[in-house]
Amino acid sequence: MSYLDHAATTPMLPSAVVAMSEALSCTGNASSLHSAGRAARRAVEESRESIAAALGARPSEVVLTAGGTEGDNLAVKGIYWARKAADPRRTRLLVSATEHHAVLEPAEWLAKHEGAELELLEVDELGRVRPESLRAALAEGAERTALVSVMWANNEVGTVNPVRELAEIAHRHGVPLHTDAVQAVGALPVDFGACGADALTLTGHKVGGPYGVGALLLRRELDCTPLIHGGGQERDVRSGTLDVPSVVGLAVAVADAVAEAPRRAPELAALRDELVRRVIEAVPDAVANGDPGHGVIDGAPSRLPGIAHLSFPGCEGDSLIMLMDAHGIECSTGSACTAGVATPSHVLLAMGADEATARGSLRFSLGHTSTAADVDAVAGAIGPVVERARRAGHAGSRQRVRVASAAGGW
Ligand SMILES: Cc1ncc(COP(=O)(O)O)c(C=O)c1O
Repeated sequence: MSYLDHAATTPMLPSAVVAMSEALSCTGNASSLHSAGRAARRAVEESRESIAAALGARPSEVVLTAGGTEGDNLAVKGIYWARKAADPRRTRLLVSATEHHAVLEPAEWLAKHEGAELELLEVDELGRVRPESLRAALAEGAERTALVSVMWANNEVGTVNPVRELAEIAHRHGVPLHTDAVQAVGALPVDFGACGADALTLTGHKVGGPYGVGALLLRRELDCTPLIHGGGQERDVRSGTLDVPSVVGLAVAVADAVAEAPRRAPELAALRDELVRRVIEAVPDAVANGDPGHGVIDGAPSRLPGIAHLSFPGCEGDSLIMLMDAHGIECSTGSACTAGVATPSHVLLAMGADEATARGSLRFSLGHTSTAADVDAVAGAIGPVVERARRAGHAGSRQRVRVASAAGGW
């Protein structure tokens, strides 16, 4: 099989497996005072220091969580509540339209249940939040704005946002900025101190660490109301006994992925470009989505090195995935599939694509196990797969017409 879904989850790095396996056989609650507890605490604090060092943060800014969804929820709801508690006028949330659902859903929940005024920041045709959009949004109502949330890099199309510039604009208006850097950490240089963001989410299973563990980097001076109450762990922002082996695995994966990135990223980008070139050679009307990746943002490439995203006119994304799978290639549409119902990608819609295009796309995401053989496999399969998906699409629409006319209407 060619595994080309690293943006969904990437295999654990061998170094993280070794470190986590060793930690699994150690007993000790990191809050206990005896020797075993102190050993567990030491392992946690060394991990915290290592994560902080790899990402340009202070150890006290690392709040350990159970993954990216929790980190995003904590940032959006926790900062919203704290800012609103300090000034009840602050009920406005500015969130980019292409955020992952882990940011969009808590923001929508706050709008529905807590009276928040949610405004989606538009993106350009490459999927990028332009600084002038944020400037315009903040020109009116900055004093009512609780938080700005803009992801570092998009998980579907790979486009990178100018986080440092956006944070500067937000700060000029006295508003904090959260960034979901789940896809960026280990792929692009991420420096929490230098980027200016006030909160930054990362997760283990996208960097070669375990599932179910991550961190929210949170500036000390920014208040954040906890979502989970209990024993007061993690600065009282995130209670719960720490999962020491996972934290150890996370820290090793973050350190290794960040250290390897300068060597790996250009290799991945070359494989990605070759994949796009050969797919378009096989299917000339396929369209590559997102930033082409030749620009520079904050000294780094303007696109994630490992993500290729293409639309195939006349195809359904789900058919493409199943047909590619039958050819031994595991990829995705990149968009959410709720309870088995395929929905058009909100990311592509926000970029101006029509519904059919937003439904007929594939994301190939490369990572640390990817090779030229994976690209060869895609290049060999994609032509016949698209042809078959198009035939199935046409047959499906003929069948829908027959069913509709038999039922007496469309
Ligand atoms: C950009 C982004 N944010 C958040 C998440 C959620 O992270 P987790 O799976 O650790 O909950 C993902 C995972 O797909 C993601 O790609």
